[in-house]
Amino acid sequence: MPSSVRSVNPPARLLMGPGPINADPRVLRAMSAPLLGQYDPQFRAYMRETQELYRQVFETKNRSTLLVDGTARAGIESILVSLIEPGDVVLVPIFGRFGHLLCEIASRCGADVRSIETPWGTVFTRDQIADALRTHRPKLLAICQGDTSTTMCQPLEWLGPLCREHGVWSYVDATASIGGQPLRVDAWSLDSVSVGLQKCLGGPSGISPITLSDAMVERIQTRWHVEAGIRPAGFTPGTGPRIPSNYLDLAMILAYWEQGLNHHTEATSMLYAAHECARILLEEGLEAAFERHALNHRAMRTGLTAMGLKLYGDSANTMRNVTGVFIPDGVHGEAVRQTMLEDFGIEIGTSFGPLAGVIWRIGTMGYNARKDCVLQTLASLHAALRLHGFRPTSDGVLEAHACY
Ligand SMILES: Cc1ncc(COP(=O)(O)O)c(C=O)c1O
Repeated sequence: MPSSVRSVNPPARLLMGPGPINADPRVLRAMSAPLLGQYDPQFRAYMRETQELYRQVFETKNRSTLLVDGTARAGIESILVSLIEPGDVVLVPIFGRFGHLLCEIASRCGADVRSIETPWGTVFTRDQIADALRTHRPKLLAICQGDTSTTMCQPLEWLGPLCREHGVWSYVDATASIGGQPLRVDAWSLDSVSVGLQKCLGGPSGISPITLSDAMVERIQTRWHVEAGIRPAGFTPGTGPRIPSNYLDLAMILAYWEQGLNHHTEATSMLYAAHECARILLEEGLEAAFERHALNHRAMRTGLTAMGLKLYGDSANTMRNVTGVFIPDGVHGEAVRQTMLEDFGIEIGTSFGPLAGVIWRIGTMGYNARKDCVLQTLASLHAALRLHGFRPTSDGVLEAHACY
């Protein structure tokens, strides 16, 4: 081993970007618990508990609520690849980078992808989506709830019933919003949702909780297929085309969760993490967690505005866990971020696409949706801006403090 390779010992950082954020120490402790065999009765009990915990997180009775191993996009891809058959029309309303990701994944699944776009910083109205459903007559509508690239949160209360009226499946990527604002899967009649742990759930990325309606499961099971080598006697495949991914085949993954079909080796430590993330959220209570996110978001925005900075996007529809703020004229955004990181140990987010170099994105989510994190970030940003020659009108700290 080269002598320069030391054990991993990361510097202290406060992660105040659009995610990942610092994991709750309880989650890190859960992850260091001993591994169990994946068919150990205790491990199967943890799996069942995790399903029940995520039913509560998603506010659903869906039996098929489980985890897909991999980052949040594994959850997205598992649903899209298991549902889409080549040539299916998929409609994606795009209001930021992650809408483009949905198009990209759907097109790799062979879909005929149709998209509608709204300018970054805005969201869609019900009428815009209803018109697009009438025009494109898709099989599936795929949309994000919160798109961290623009910090916007798409209202979704009416989406499920609208899709059902048109005979269209709905899929929602709520990776960035789950736990920070309501996502009422059953009350909003959503057919499928996937998320990640690394935002408001306060965990690391690497596993993706998903939930599927019974009707969607029935549809996916028409593509039932089992690998040669583990097929039970008398196995008959489904009548639909085989799902083109083995790893993300939800028909097989569901059988793994429910009947113990030997598919992948469960990512034990990540399951422990997901289990603890959900316990922490439910112990606090969903509504209390939404309130906490709203309060810290408001305090951050109040402090930034008091500094004389301008906030980005349609303020009526921002996510409650991340704020876009314009980089002031004449200030080098990346240089300020570097000072924040190197001198203050705080990470804030850069941006991509049309917003690169235009806004910073500052998160207040999960374990870091706290007064001390907000106040430290504001004080440090004030100092970093001064170091780069910009004079804010205030440090924003007292104004933010008053919100509490
Ligand atoms: C809305 C949204 N969807 C998907 C992803 C992709 O997640 P991952 O990087 O865990 O695959 C992210 C990550 O930031 C996200 O914010």
